[in-house]
Amino acid sequence: MMKVTIMTSMKAVLIHAFGGPDVLRYEDVAMPAIGPDEVLVRVSAIGINPPDWYLRDGYRALPPEWRPKVDFPIILGTDISGTVEGVGHNVTGFSVGDEVYSMVRFFSVAESRAYAEYVAVPATELALKPQGIDHIHAAAAPMSLLTAWQFLVDVGHSRPNPLQAEPHRPVPLEGRRVLINGAAGGVGHLAVQVAKLKGAHVTAVASGRNEALLRELGADVFIDYTQNDSTTIRDLDLVVDAVGGPATARFLQTLKPGGALFPVYPLGFAEADEAARLGLTVSTTQVRSHGGQLAELAPLLDDRRIRVVIDSTFPLSAAREAHERAEKGHIQGKIVLIP
Ligand SMILES: NC(=O)c1ccc[n+]([C@@H]2O[C@H](COP(=O)([O-])OP(=O)(O)OC[C@H]3O[C@@H](n4cnc5c(N)ncnc54)[C@H](OP(=O)(O)O)[C@@H]3O)[C@@H](O)[C@H]2O)c1
Repeated sequence: MMKVTIMTSMKAVLIHAFGGPDVLRYEDVAMPAIGPDEVLVRVSAIGINPPDWYLRDGYRALPPEWRPKVDFPIILGTDISGTVEGVGHNVTGFSVGDEVYSMVRFFSVAESRAYAEYVAVPATELALKPQGIDHIHAAAAPMSLLTAWQFLVDVGHSRPNPLQAEPHRPVPLEGRRVLINGAAGGVGHLAVQVAKLKGAHVTAVASGRNEALLRELGADVFIDYTQNDSTTIRDLDLVVDAVGGPATARFLQTLKPGGALFPVYPLGFAEADEAARLGLTVSTTQVRSHGGQLAELAPLLDDRRIRVVIDSTFPLSAAREAHERAEKGHIQGKIVLIP
């Protein structure tokens, strides 16, 4: 008689309190159960993103009243690539054995639970993994690529934007002069490629060691911000500031009237009046899970029209070291965990 082993526990990385990388714990937890509209994914790789360490740290950059209240322990993480192990009874588009990738339940604080060997994923947030790339590159893509896409091409949802009254609207890119600041990071290196794909003339701003990479990815002009002031350039149509924060306002002077500034990290921008006086749009959005867009993007990843660059990989059990690497900054592309 065949013996079937049903797994009841798995390894995951949890936090039991907010804090630095040392609060990350590699432990045994119960396997996730799936609902009727969900898929159980055996995870092969996990891409890490700034919201992982913002949550680990208790979102300390936010005013106290905005900080999330959570029930510990929490499993961090949102981005995965892996193989379907089970499907809920309402799910029609996926079968056991399919290779898939996803940004799981974002923005839904502490409910994504991706730093784990298995994750339950709503089927609407899942897409077939691009066949031409491995799980490491597929897991590295979702949040950063969806961010670039939702800022530059298609917001993809109509949920209210908590950060501004007007919904975010992408602007035309064909033939336009676009500057990407923070161009070597997770969002930045993909934004450079999306803007090029849509016909823009792209200026990439990053530290010097990234020049060859960014030119290879399509940048027409490279500015090493450690040597030169990236804000002396004029008459741009669009600045995508993937560094953002209060310093984003210095890019207003680089834009022509009618131009737009998209701070990807918008907290701290306080020059709305100045932007209006100059006839500029300042707009931001918050990335949202979207299986349909990941399916649309898969062919671009498949044939390397969009390339995901890997900064470094770590075993899932060394998530702490991965977060320590992230804290050092100057990330070139993406950091990935491997269960
Ligand atoms: N709105 C949203 O939905 C959304 C979604 C995703 C991410 N974000 C935010 O967007 C930001 C970027 O995320 P990410 O994943 O791309 O982070 P990341 O991978 O850490 O990239 C940041 C990049 O910025 C570069 N950099 C640092 N200081 C710089 C400066 N003064 N000028 C130019 N470049 C500089 C760094 O490398 P070098 O200094 O070596 O060039 C690094 O490559 C984060 O704040 C994140 O929270 C927002």
